[in-house]
This record gives sequence, structure tokens and C-alpha cells, in this order.
Amino acid sequence: MMISRNASSLQVSSDGLRALAETIFRKRGVPKKDAVLVADILIEANLRGHDSHGVIRIPNWIKGLDCGALKSVCQPSVVRDKGATALIHGDYGLGPVVAKKATDLVLQKAKNFGVGVVSVRKASHIGILQYYSQWLAEKGVIGIVVTNTEPGVAPFGSRQQILGTNPLTISVPSEGAPYLVDMSTSVAARGKIVNALERGESIPEGWAIDGEGNPTTNPTEALKGALLPAGGAKGSALAIMIDFLAGGLAGGSVGTKVSGTMNTDQEITKGDMFLAIDPGSIGSKRRFVGCVEELASEIHNSQPLPGTEMVLMPGEFERIQKKKNLKNGIDITEKLLTEIQKLAE
Ligand SMILES: NC(=O)c1ccc[n+]([C@@H]2O[C@H](COP(=O)([O-])OP(=O)(O)OC[C@H]3O[C@@H](n4cnc5c(N)ncnc54)[C@H](O)[C@@H]3O)[C@@H](O)[C@H]2O)c1
Repeated sequence: MMISRNASSLQVSSDGLRALAETIFRKRGVPKKDAVLVADILIEANLRGHDSHGVIRIPNWIKGLDCGALKSVCQPSVVRDKGATALIHGDYGLGPVVAKKATDLVLQKAKNFGVGVVSVRKASHIGILQYYSQWLAEKGVIGIVVTNTEPGVAPFGSRQQILGTNPLTISVPSEGAPYLVDMSTSVAARGKIVNALERGESIPEGWAIDGEGNPTTNPTEALKGALLPAGGAKGSALAIMIDFLAGGLAGGSVGTKVSGTMNTDQEITKGDMFLAIDPGSIGSKRRFVGCVEELASEIHNSQPLPGTEMVLMPGEFERIQKKKNLKNGIDITEKLLTEIQKLAE
């Protein structure tokens, strides 16, 4: 494994880290193709600049396997299938393994019916949502994915952790790589606070409040208090609706009863929803892609603010990060590398 070092962290080659991740899951009896998939989504998170959802998640996912709450070999099954809709029972599998099955099924439905909606229950953390929506957009359909997570976010006006970081991704086909948004409905993903804690760093103002409801930049206090919703009342409302779409539709839980994303040793009550729309069924796919390119061009050619080099389309941030990280290596702490190397022994 290629490793270089700067003052505060290590830069590890993505191939080396990928092989390490695969070994860890293989050692727990995860079938090879599933271990490859799980390692890929974790490494993609690191490569795309979402370290909060990269290899830092391995110890927690392994905890779920080691305590028996999650199964190394799972048999997800379609328990309801009606026209364009379906429900998958994840059989307590690793989230990406079940999510891949849901993504394949929703694509098939969108091709057959113009639209597909697949809900998933009893599958663990599915990682970065854009992995699935982007794959759908690469196949020519619009991909939308939501999930709900353990309480950590205060609804607008409250100081209590009621909502999850309930993320949403939408990817659209374009002439090149899909454009995509992928965001928690909190100001930042909870994992970014855990990451800051791990690195001994403070968090930016406006991300969280402490247990008393006061603004804090201290990650420990933030985890005791609550994350703030993105965009105030709007992000809060979006998170509430995602709870219904993800947990509610799948027959899972909402609000404070949600578990199974971070708490890998507990019963899974979270849910996921995968939605795919074939633009060619509603109108002309060529015209749709034309619209995407037209707006992308207007945005790229717009006048940047002073200090901004280039105005980006959503998803381009990730592409820039990936190019940089493929070249320079993935930045992780020595403590994390040692911890995951031990898990591979
Ligand atoms: N599976 C789960 O339970 C779960 C829960 C929460 C978050 N997540 C994942 O965590 C990841 C991180 O979420 P987040 O909310 O911290 O994301 P973020 O705030 O880093 O990014 C949100 C969006 O903003 C865009 N963006 C970011 N920086 C940009 C810049 N400088 N210029 C232009 N666009 C920019 C990104 O392309 C992205 O679409 C996501 O992949 C999400 O799916 C997963």
C-alpha cells in the first residue's frame, strides 16, 4: 500500500485502501462480490471528498457483523411487487448489498413502466446515496434515493434531537457524467462532526447546538446537543418528509424510533426509497438531456462571485475531489489506518 505523510495525516493510495477494505469484509465471511461492492462504495466516498462516509465507517459496520445484528451472507427478497412498485426485505444485510438489488430492480421497473419506486426495509447503512442515483443516471434514467437515520437533528425551533440527517440524492443523465445533488438535510452530515472529533478539530459555526441549545463549534458538545437543519425551516421540513418517504413507506420507523444506520448493533428500523424515472417515457430523452446541458452551460458561463474560480454544477465538486484524491491518495488519520489494519488481521 502506497502511503505518504504530511503534518497531521497520511495519504493512502485508493487501491491499497480498497484491498484492505475487501479483506476485512471477506474475513467476516462476506461473499467476494459483496465485499468488492462494499469496499467500492466506501472508497468512492473517500475519493469524492465525503470522508465521513468512507473507510471511517468500517469499524462500525464490522461491529454489526461481529455481534450478529447484521448478516455476512444475506438473502434480500422482494416481499411485495405491484406494477411499478416493490418492497424489499433486506434480511439484515450490509446496506450496499441490498441497495444494489433495489437499484437494479428500480431500473428494470422504470424501463418497463416509465417509473419505478422500490422501498427497502431491514438493510443497514447504505453509504453515500449518490453511488446509486449516479448509477441510475448513467443508465439513462433520473435516479432519486432517500434514507432516514437515527435522531441527531433538531427540528426547526426545537433543541431536541428528533430527526435524522435524512439525506436526499437526485442524479440526472447528461451528455457526459450525470449531474447530481447528494446532501443531508442537516447543515452537515453527522459523520463530518465525528470526523472532526477524530482529527481533534473544531466544527464550523452554524452546524450544531450544545445540550443547552447554544451554538457550538466543539464536536463533543455538538454530538451531545443536536445538529441544525440545513436552510432552517426548509431543511427541517424536507427531513420530516424524507422520514415518511424512507421509513414510513418501507414499514419502518420515523423520528426518535429510527435505528440501524449508525447503531449497527441494534434492530434495523430505518428505511430507504429508490425512485427512477425514464425521461423518454414522458417526453423525449434527447430533449431532456438538452435541457440539462442548456442549464449547465448557463451556470458554467455565469459571472463568478469575487473569489470564486468557477461556478459548478452539482456533482462537479465530487468529480474534482476524485481526480485530486486519485492522484494524491486518500487522506486519513494514522489512528484510523491502524484500527482498520487490525481488523484485517
Ligand atoms: N446513508 C446515510 O444514512 C447517510 C446519511 C447522511 C449523509 N449521507 C451521505 O453523506 C454524504 C455527505 O453529505 P453532506 O450533506 O455532508 O454533503 P456536502 O454538504 O458535502 O455536499 C452536499 C452537496 O453540495 C455539493 N457541494 C459540496 N461542496 C461544494 C462546492 N464547494 N461547490 C459546489 N457544490 C458543492 C455536493 O456536490 C453535494 O451535492 C452524502 O453522500 C450523503 O449521501 C448518508
